[in-house]
Amino acid sequence: MSRVTLSRYLIEQTRCNHTPADLRFLIEVVARACKEISHQVSKGALGGVLGSMGTENVQGEVQKKLDVISNEILLEANEWGGHLAGMASEEMDNAYQIPGKYPKGAYLLVFDPLDGSSNIDVNVSVGTIFSVLRCPDRNGDEGDLGEEAFLQPGTEQVAAGYAIYGPQTMLMLTLGDGVKGFTLDRELGSFVLTHDNIKVPESTKEFAINMSNQRHWEAPVQRYVSELLAGETGPLGKNYNMRWVAAMVADVHRILTRGGVFMYPRDSREPEKPGKLRLMYEANPMSMIIEQAGGVATDGNQRILDIQPTSLHQRVAVFLGSKEEVLRISAYHRE
Ligand code: F6P
Repeated sequence: MSRVTLSRYLIEQTRCNHTPADLRFLIEVVARACKEISHQVSKGALGGVLGSMGTENVQGEVQKKLDVISNEILLEANEWGGHLAGMASEEMDNAYQIPGKYPKGAYLLVFDPLDGSSNIDVNVSVGTIFSVLRCPDRNGDEGDLGEEAFLQPGTEQVAAGYAIYGPQTMLMLTLGDGVKGFTLDRELGSFVLTHDNIKVPESTKEFAINMSNQRHWEAPVQRYVSELLAGETGPLGKNYNMRWVAAMVADVHRILTRGGVFMYPRDSREPEKPGKLRLMYEANPMSMIIEQAGGVATDGNQRILDIQPTSLHQRVAVFLGSKEEVLRISAYHRE
């Protein structure tokens, strides 16, 4: 059987006019950067890449060496090709300007270079999450690209995906026409299509949430999780299992593979911050992937992809995965 590599898949998409050539190039460059990040992550202690930088990102989180290395790999890979007008990342306070010596393109790339980085030092899966938007028309303005160009709802994403660096390195991708999964063939150095037409099962018996925050949750989440824990003698009438990897890529990957519901609700720890996860480079790309696989993604009150962002590093509550459960959570919020 002939193998479909990521390049072949993208070229065939371009041939059917589904994917413009510059978007194809962009995805190939991101995939190449992810291969390099995968390589760096896999070196671990041998590469001297573990541990912290001793600095904090804009969220006040400690930056790991691999956070910074992954950010640099993505910036360097993407700045020269002429396909981007700008980039933004979890690891940078402001939008990244394409250096003046390079041409500028039609797209914006937003990413979390290494999601779940608290897992790095303990050799558990981490990943890269990315979202592609069109750059709004700048009417000939050649000046610096401001944050406002990026502040588009998730429905405007033209592509989204993530790479997971686990026992296998995989790239999960949507161009708005379903979700495809590619596994890295390390001998050939190519991503090969291994998971076609991925679908999230509509119902599930598995949930993912950080239970240690239970005392801070709002009433609808308290109610829902207590019903899950009540099992078959409770109102939901079945026993549920719980899994929490503490890396969104890994938890979402499991849900794409076998169903489940992922929750990071808003809570009362820091009332001015709605949730922990970031809208632009975590919730939006993951929501597009989940929806394209037939699942649902909300913040409890509305579809995540409809939220109009007001800042680059905005946080949001996230409930996503199997349709039946996410709709139940939304219903509890409405009540
Ligand atoms: O980006 C934040 C993140 O690492 C996610 O990947 C993950 O789902 C979550 O935080 C884990 O949070 P906590 O440490 O509170 O369990």
